Amino acid sequence: TLTPVKDVLADDFRFGAAVDPRDLAAPTGDLLNQHFSQITAENHMKPEAIQPVEGQFNFDAADQLVEYAEAHGIEVYGHTFLWHGQTPAWWFTYPAGHPKAGEPLGSSAEDRQIMLDRLEAHIGAIAAHYGDRIQAWDVVNEVISDNATEVYRNSRWYQIFQGPEYISEAFRIAREQLDAVGATDVKLFINDYGTDNPAKRDNLYNLVSTMLANGVPVDGVGHQTHISLNTSISQIEASIDKFAALGVLQAVTELDVSIGAPAAGVEFPELESRLIQQGHYFKDLFAMLRQKDLESVTVWGLHDGRSWIRTEERPLEAPLVFTDDLQAKWAYWGIVDPSRLP
Ligand code: G3I
Repeated sequence: TLTPVKDVLADDFRFGAAVDPRDLAAPTGDLLNQHFSQITAENHMKPEAIQPVEGQFNFDAADQLVEYAEAHGIEVYGHTFLWHGQTPAWWFTYPAGHPKAGEPLGSSAEDRQIMLDRLEAHIGAIAAHYGDRIQAWDVVNEVISDNATEVYRNSRWYQIFQGPEYISEAFRIAREQLDAVGATDVKLFINDYGTDNPAKRDNLYNLVSTMLANGVPVDGVGHQTHISLNTSISQIEASIDKFAALGVLQAVTELDVSIGAPAAGVEFPELESRLIQQGHYFKDLFAMLRQKDLESVTVWGLHDGRSWIRTEERPLEAPLVFTDDLQAKWAYWGIVDPSRLP
C-alpha cells in the first residue's frame, strides 16, 4: 500500500482536499482517510448552499462533511462566509416588507446596513451551528482585482459599500460571532488566487497590513494556488515570504497544477511527458513549501476526475495528485519519494 501523503508531511503542515458528500463513500472515502488530514467543502459551505433563502439555513451537506471528518480524525477548513460567487440573488436586493422589496440594493447607509445585518445573521448562524468544530474560515474570498488599474474587485459588495470597508466589517463580525459562542480559537483567513502575481500580491499585502494596523482581527492569508506547469515557484515563494514578515498564518488553500491539455478532440501526444513534468513540479513545489511555516496545503479535489479544471472541453486535464481511478500519479511521487521520478 502507498505511503500516506499526510504522514510524509506531518511535521510540516496538514494535507487537505476539497470534497463533496459524494466523495465520502468508498473507494474515494478510503483514499481520503489514507492520505489527507484536512478537508474543505468544495461547494457546500458557500452562501448559496447554507442560506439559499433568506432566514432558511441548510446545513445538511456541510454536516455530513463535518461529522465524517470528526469520525476520522480529519480537520475542517471553512470556505467561505463572503464571496461574490455562489451567493444567492436575494442577498443583493431589498428584503421582503421593504417598499423596494426584490429590487437591487443601492449604496445608501441603509442599504449597507442591510448587507451587514445579513452578514451578521449568516455568520452568526454558522458560528452557533459549528462553534469551534471548524478550525478556520475564509472570511472573505477573492476580494482583490485581477485588473492592474484597480486594487479591489468591483463586486456587488464593493459597489454597495462604494469601497473596501465591507472587508474589515466582515472580519469584525466574524470574530464577534465566533467569540460569542466561545469559538475564540477559530482562525480567520482572507483567501485569494493569483497571489504569485506581484501586483495582485502587493494589493493583498497592503490590505492585510492596513487591517492589522487598524486592529481588524485577520489571522491568516490563504493562497488558492490554481496554477500551471509554467507558474514560477520562486514567485509563489516570494509571496509566502512577504506575508510571513507580517506575522500572519498562511495556508495553500486550493492547489491544482494544470498540465495545459488541449481542447477536446485535439491530439495530445505530450500527455505522459507532461505528467512526468508535473511530478517534477510537485517535487520542487513541495520542497519549497516544506521550508515555509504553513498551516495546511489543500489540493482542490481528491483526484483528477473530480477537478473543476477537468471539463468536457478539456477532457485530458489532470491537475491533481491521484488519477481518476485513484492511482498515484507522478505528482504523488514528487511529494512522497522524488527518487522514483523518471
Ligand atoms: O449542483 C448543480 C447541479 O444541480 C446542476 O445540474 C449543474 C449544472 O451546471 O450545476 C451544479 O452546480 C455546479 C457546482 O459547481 C456543483 O458541482 C455549478 O454549476 C458550478 O458552477 C460549480 O462550480 C464550482 C465553482 O467553484 C463555482 O464558482 C466548483 O465546483 C468549485 O470547485 C469552484 O471552487 C472555486 C472556489 O470556491 C474559489 N476559488 C476558485 C475555485 C475554482 O473555481
